[in-house]
Order: sequence, then structure tokens, then C-alpha cells
Amino acid sequence: MPKLSVIGAGTMGTGIAQVAATAGWDVVVNDSNEDVIEKSSQSLVKVMNRLVEKEKIDQQTADGILGRIDFTEDPQHFENSDLVIEAIIENLEIKQNVFSTVEKIVRPDTIIASNTSSLSLASIGASLDDPTRFVGIHFFNPAPLMPLVEIIPAVQSDPKIVEQAKDWVDNWKKLTVLAKDTPGFIVNRVARPFYGEALRIYEEGIADFATIDWSMKEFGGFRMGPFELMDFIGNDVNYTVTETVFQSFFYDPRYKPSFTQKRMSEAGLLGRKSGKGYYDYSDGISLPEAKKDEKLGRQIVDRVLVMLINEAADALFLNIATKEDIDLAMTKGVNYPKGLLKWADELGVNWCVDRLDRLYDEYREDRYRCSPLLRRMNNKNQSFY
Ligand SMILES: NC(=O)c1ccc[n+]([C@@H]2O[C@H](COP(=O)([O-])OP(=O)(O)OC[C@H]3O[C@@H](n4cnc5c(N)ncnc54)[C@H](O)[C@@H]3O)[C@@H](O)[C@H]2O)c1
Repeated sequence: MPKLSVIGAGTMGTGIAQVAATAGWDVVVNDSNEDVIEKSSQSLVKVMNRLVEKEKIDQQTADGILGRIDFTEDPQHFENSDLVIEAIIENLEIKQNVFSTVEKIVRPDTIIASNTSSLSLASIGASLDDPTRFVGIHFFNPAPLMPLVEIIPAVQSDPKIVEQAKDWVDNWKKLTVLAKDTPGFIVNRVARPFYGEALRIYEEGIADFATIDWSMKEFGGFRMGPFELMDFIGNDVNYTVTETVFQSFFYDPRYKPSFTQKRMSEAGLLGRKSGKGYYDYSDGISLPEAKKDEKLGRQIVDRVLVMLINEAADALFLNIATKEDIDLAMTKGVNYPKGLLKWADELGVNWCVDRLDRLYDEYREDRYRCSPLLRRMNNKNQSFY
């Protein structure tokens, strides 16, 4: 069986190791922190025990998976890997240092990948002597449960390497999509308005958190409302992604972060992990009631949804991915109830353009500019599918 080395035994590294070992790969998990290695190993044992208890797998399978994973602090154990996936702290300089060490240990044909969420693959790949063997493999959290993986070639990547990496991840029973090396790839780019527009609606005083969340679930069919989800992700983490995407797009106003979220993050109101965010999670405190007004609820959903559709259409316009991959990414990476481009067809491209133009006319902000693709399609009476 092929061998995977995972660098970083944190949340993502541990999950990726489980995925590959479950598919029969031999896995080496490395971390520079001994305590983290211990925690990662214990958490995998716990996960396996739970899967056996729930009768999802038998004891022998669990033992087999655990037996295929080795934990080590010593990078020398990366020797003879077919694939290396780096999942360490999101810092370019530290990642670049790690890659120059790794390259000296592994075989010349080992494929080297990063799980980065927000750094450019081109910039990480530049630290390798042979950047043609480098590619982005972006998992979602929790890696064993989320089916989607974004495969991101860097400009330097050899297409054959990209294809091989994609094949392997497909064999790990993941759904892969190909994305261009641009900020946020597919999911973290297209999803921005889910948070940003909801925050804007709140800031304008149109509705409170609970009403916006209720509307998105009740009339949009989303599993979680934006504020619940931001509290779940962590306002610090979500804010940083938004700010990074904004900066990386050379300050395109469409991705402008929200002061509401910045203040929540600054105040340490991070969400579930700090006990309080948009909602108070203390024991005995009940969540606030939504104002269940259907007309208002539908207006909220229309506004957030059309902004999401615009973002998806623009990603297609700029060839970030195919329409099928954009729709698959949002349904499998963040559990949207429908692909956004399919949704656009159902609502009608003309409806989307009209809604966006009305927002633009009202606000005169670039944030609401309609994607040229939607406008072009509307003029020709076209649909996405
Ligand atoms: N958490 C998510 O939701 C998520 C989702 C997709 C991608 N990512 C990306 O995955 C990467 C890891 O994220 P995470 O949430 O698992 O972080 P984490 O903080 O849980 O784990 C990172 C681990 O890397 C280790 N580490 C740091 N420097 C190291 C080095 N030089 N050598 C070996 N180990 C080192 C740390 O000790 C830590 O255990 C980041 O690039 C992040 O952007 C995270």
C-alpha cells in the first residue's frame, strides 16, 4: 500500500490521517509538539472505539486502521512516502521552512501537498527545489466526515502530479473538485456573502440574529443560520478568513469585512468555544426567539441568496472551477441545500440580475455589482444547465 506522511497532528492532520488509513494507506503523522502527538493518537483511538460501539466498523477493522498509523516527532520517518500532506499552522514562512526540510528527506517522485486554507499555493511551492511536484489538497473540517476535497494546482504544478493526487484522494472515497489558486479557492470564496450579507442585514437594523438565522433555515433550507454557524466556526477564525480573502483580492469591496464581526472577535466573543458569541451558550440561558414574519424572512433569504449566486456565477466567469464543481463544492463542502448555479436556474437568471441591480441602485456600492456572466446570460436568455 502507498504511504502518506502528514505533517501537523492538529485538527486537520489527525482527520486526514484517519481518512487515508481507513482507505488502507500506511500513514506517518508528525508534529513538532510531543503533547499534540499524544492527543492526536488518543483522539484517534477514541474515534475508533466510538465507530465500533456504533457498529459502523468491527474491532478488527479499527485495529487495522490504528495499526497503520505511526506517530513521530522525527521528520526522517517521511522517507519513502508516496505523498506528504502538510497541515501545520497557517504561516507562510513556517510552511516554507518545513517544505525545504521535507524535500531533502523524501524520494524525488514523492508528491508534496499543503492543506492551506488561505495562502497561495504558488507562494508555498516557491520554497521547493522542484515545485512541479507540489499541489494543494484542501480538506474540510472534520476531514473524516466532510466528503469534499478541493484540489488546487499551483502555477508550477505538473498536471500529471495533480491528476495522481486527485486519483488518490478519490480513492479515499472523497469527492474532489478542481479549483484555481485564487483566494478562498471555491468554498471559502463563494460562501463569503452567507456571513457578510447576513451581518450587513443585521447592521442595517433590518432583523436580529435569531430572525436572520430562522429565515435562512425556514425559507432557504440551510442547515444552520449564518450567526449560529459563525458561532460554531469561531468569530476569530471566520473574521480572519474574511479579512484574508479581502486583502488577497486587493481590497475588492465585495469582500469587505464587517465591523460587527471584528468587534465580536476583539471582545473575545468567539462563539461556542468561548461560551458566548452572537448567542449566549451559558447553562440555563435559552436562545432568543426569532420574529417569525414570513415576508421579512423571505426578503432576507432572497438578499443573501442572490449575493451567493452572484459570487458563484463570478467564480465561473473567472474560470475558478467548472459549474458542476462549484455546485458540488457548496453542497458537499458546506452542506448548502442546493448548488447555487442550479438554484439560479430555478429562480431565473433574470430574477437574479434584477434583484442585484435593485440592490446596486439602492446602495450604489460595488459590493452589489452583478457578475458580467449573469448579465450576459440574461441578455441571451440562457441558463446554467
Ligand atoms: N481547522 C480547519 O477548519 C481547517 C480546514 C481546512 C484547512 N485548514 C488548514 O489546515 C492547516 C492546519 O490547521 P489545523 O486547524 O489542523 O491547525 P491546528 O492548530 O489544529 O494544528 C496545527 C499543528 O501543526 C503543528 N506544527 C506547527 N509547526 C510545525 C512544524 N514545523 N512541524 C510539525 N508540526 C508543526 C502544531 O503543533 C499543531 O499541532 C492550516 O493550514 C489551516 O489553514 C484548517
